Amino acid sequence: MGKNRPIILGIGGGKGGVGKTVITANLSICLAQMGKRCVAIDADLGGANLHTVLGVAGPDLTLSDFMRRTVSSLSDILMPTPFRNLRLISGSRALMEMANPKHSQKEKLIRHIMDLDVDVVLLDLGSGSAFNTLDFLLAADEGILVVLPEPTSVENAYHFIKAAFYRKLKKATKHSGVAEAIDQAMEEKVARGIQSPRTLISNVWKINPEAGQALQDEADDFRPNIIVNQTRKFDDINLGKDIALACKDYFGITIRYVGHVEEDNSLREAVRLRKAVMEAFPFSPFANSIKAIAKNLLPKEGISI
Ligand SMILES: Nc1ncnc2c1ncn2[C@@H]1O[C@H](COP(=O)(O)OP(=O)(O)OP(=O)(O)O)[C@@H](O)[C@H]1O
Ligand SMILES: [Mg+2]
Repeated sequence: MGKNRPIILGIGGGKGGVGKTVITANLSICLAQMGKRCVAIDADLGGANLHTVLGVAGPDLTLSDFMRRTVSSLSDILMPTPFRNLRLISGSRALMEMANPKHSQKEKLIRHIMDLDVDVVLLDLGSGSAFNTLDFLLAADEGILVVLPEPTSVENAYHFIKAAFYRKLKKATKHSGVAEAIDQAMEEKVARGIQSPRTLISNVWKINPEAGQALQDEADDFRPNIIVNQTRKFDDINLGKDIALACKDYFGITIRYVGHVEEDNSLREAVRLRKAVMEAFPFSPFANSIKAIAKNLLPKEGISI
């Protein structure tokens, strides 16, 4: 990684309403308060509301202007926020342009993100496992999945991890037959149960060792992070470890549990005050959880905090 490009954090999750936006917003503020120059990008095109959580009313320019080429550079649509070191790129009104971006448009956006002259870029990725979401998550240095301690959210998280993993494998190789093998593995109704990624890779190895190695390299490189949000009890906190263990067993991939965020009424109170939690209640359980996550996320990237 070049020294001059920002570290990209992509915050996503299989399910809606798990706290992606409040975590992205407050993590951005936290990193900015630590002196990192940050940009938060609202890539949740279905329901862009990051600007509201950051206290930016009705941004003038949004991703839509970039996609329509009203502006030529992503840095032209950087909006100030009430926080020092933190700027915003809003996604509101960008749905039409972004619902189905062409491959080249996606590449261009990612290139421009990498060119931003800041330390950290945080992407609020919206819910679901659509290819667009997965591609932005995979383009990030750290893909972060937010999960709630609820069965449906956990189930969604596994689906999301699996979809992202296979998407990454599929993009890795152009060898004929491999993409088909991956598609087949994604089919839930494969005879005698789902083929595990390990079996898939070893089967590809047998057919084509070079393709097998390419897949293995991609698998080794796939290291998503997980945050368990709205924890209430000890078991909720352990959920992150359980998910990581299950993914190791089944997928053979390493998931990093970067921390949990306590359920906290300060969020509601902060909304009432029209302020971010990090600002209104900097020592609340929520804010403290975010600070711990910020510290866990960055040292490995060589940023000293
Ligand atoms: N740790 C927490 N404690 C209390 N409330 C929380 C916590 N995390 C999130 N919430 C609340 O849950 C709601 C959903 O949060 P948020 O909008 O960030 O979710 P989201 O994943 O971005 O949703 P969407 O998929 O709709 O974009 C908000 O009202 C938020 O204040
Ligand atoms: Mg959201």
